[in-house]
Amino acid sequence: MKNMDKLICVVALFASLLLTASVSFAAGGGGTIYKMHVDVHQQKSLQRGAKYFMNYCLSCHAASYSRYNRVAADLGISEQNMREHLIFTGRKFGDTMTVALTPEQGKEWFGAPPPDLSVRARSRGADWIYSFLKTFYVDESATRGVNNLQFPGTSMPHVLWELQGLQTLVEDDDHAEEDSHAKDGHGAHKKELFEIAVPGTMTPEEYDQAIVDIVNFMVYMSEPIKLKRQAIGVGVLFFLFALGVLAYFMKRDYWKDVH
Ligand code: HEC
Repeated sequence: MKNMDKLICVVALFASLLLTASVSFAAGGGGTIYKMHVDVHQQKSLQRGAKYFMNYCLSCHAASYSRYNRVAADLGISEQNMREHLIFTGRKFGDTMTVALTPEQGKEWFGAPPPDLSVRARSRGADWIYSFLKTFYVDESATRGVNNLQFPGTSMPHVLWELQGLQTLVEDDDHAEEDSHAKDGHGAHKKELFEIAVPGTMTPEEYDQAIVDIVNFMVYMSEPIKLKRQAIGVGVLFFLFALGVLAYFMKRDYWKDVH
């Protein structure tokens, strides 16, 4: 019966391995121009991301799986702050983050309806959205005068142009070669693909941080439980450990009269 201890140890070890595997998150992607480091545990970044998202995205896109009050609670934003600065035109604190624009209007005005962004970070992947927000550029031949390198011919306008400014694509024959190996961990090409033609209100570094914040927020939105999962995992491990200790002492107690 000594094996009982071993069995408990093995079960606990196995459970902890499973948990570790589920806690680590493999970001999807592939075929993106840049890469970014996602960190949904940076509360300040999520708060800034929420602010940008409510101000610059929610006018066209809904995020209808999320509620304002849940976002406020998860991100440590007070109800008053949320009401005063982040909820616009008549929506309530407990409402889902919907949009007044109908899909028909969206199609009519933009050529394509702006999709719901609740879980887009999961389907497209963080790197894709980050690259999308980073690569709008002036293109006279496009209908809107801007095009996008990650999503060529997109009907989304460059809604963040005031922040980023307007950039042009650098014509450079080396691109093909650069693209194949220049993607490093933080989305920095060795050589810039773009040149700022009209500066925005933000420096390129500030703009980069802003879109990282937006994507972080979108990743959180696509899986709010991620914020809690690690804490739950630790709790479960503690529980298993306590159970192991208890089982050991019980076993000692039961068997002491037998020998
Ligand atoms: C003026 C309206 C408008 C605003 C504001 C807007 N978008 Fe869009 N967005 C669109 C339209 C229209 C599309 C559809 C583009 C297409 O299919 O070509 C789109 C598409 C997208 C897509 C691609 C979805 C997919 O997977 O195909 C993403 C991601 C996105 N928007 C993110 C954002 C973010 C983040 C913001 C805020 C910074 C934002 N959008 C603000 C109109 C808007």
